[in-house]
Amino acid sequence: MADLTTRYLGFALTSPLVVAASGLTATVDGVKKAAAAGAGAIVLKSLFEEQLVAELAAVEASLEGGQHPEAEDFFRKAGMEEGAREYLKLVSGSRDAGVPVIASVNCVGATRWAEFAKRIEGAGASALELNMAVMPESASERGAAVEARLFETVAAVRTVTKLPLAVKIGSGYASIPSVVAELSRSGAQALVLFNRFYRFDVDLQNLALKAGNARSAGDEYHESLRWISLLSGKVPCDLAASTGVHDAETVIKLVSVGASVVELCSVIYRRGFGVIGEMNRALNDWLDAKGLGSLKAIQGRLSQANSANPAAHARLQYIQALTGIS
Ligand SMILES: Cc1cc2nc3c(=O)[nH]c(=O)nc-3n(C[C@H](O)[C@H](O)[C@H](O)COP(=O)(O)O)c2cc1C
Repeated sequence: MADLTTRYLGFALTSPLVVAASGLTATVDGVKKAAAAGAGAIVLKSLFEEQLVAELAAVEASLEGGQHPEAEDFFRKAGMEEGAREYLKLVSGSRDAGVPVIASVNCVGATRWAEFAKRIEGAGASALELNMAVMPESASERGAAVEARLFETVAAVRTVTKLPLAVKIGSGYASIPSVVAELSRSGAQALVLFNRFYRFDVDLQNLALKAGNARSAGDEYHESLRWISLLSGKVPCDLAASTGVHDAETVIKLVSVGASVVELCSVIYRRGFGVIGEMNRALNDWLDAKGLGSLKAIQGRLSQANSANPAAHARLQYIQALTGIS
């Protein structure tokens, strides 16, 4: 058997296949199935920050020793405070899964984090992944201001927890390298590139808005491939690939450009947890066929940092688009 181990967020994982935050990891049962199927680590379904704010308001209300009518009204309407408590139960129920379990929070700001981050840590999470979907608030808010909110949130979370921290972002930034470098300076030990945000579509029959396809196709990994190849070895953090990883071949491509791990979601929805074992076996077979003893032997080999001709590596990224060669 080839050695598939990889290091991510300070952990030695037995496989680079990480189950992504999703409904697949919203229950202890799902987490145990993912671990039994051969995942190297598991990211729990995200807790949405609004749930967290409701929970913290409840704590504050009880500390004040009395009722907090506005907060209570909010809880009743939103029904969210239960969600935060349930989340902590999910974290503690998953702690003996046998692989690192990474809690995830869908973060929009950093105002009330301290208490909850400590409780996630106390519940036994191995690490924390921040799912950062920072949207511009108005046409007058410049890109730098949007990015500043992102960095401030990560820096604030970093100060309140010792857990290893991964930050998952989308690809919609003018300068991915500068955003990634600043996130690393703000305290991220890993970057997950990239989230695939919910899409919407138009139902032509009824001329109405509808949800787009929530699941990726197997050819959607190219943005992750491009940016991991350009960033690997140049930023002091681990890089995880996310979006469009549907087979072992894609895992090999992403690891060869520098990914430490890949996160899997749509492929598991489509084919069940058994696909994790299939992909681990296919990785092993590929390494055997190449006479390579370990995945580490190829990690980052095709990154720009390891290229004999970095300028050519960069040119490859855009030359076809510029010249129209097909
Ligand atoms: C049904 C569903 C639920 C998801 N929930 C979350 C979530 O709670 N937090 C998060 O960070 N990403 C969430 N995602 C995004 C996935 O973690 C992943 O980044 C995205 O689907 C791209 O990976 P894929 O191409 O393997 O599907 C969800 C995706 C799906 C399809």
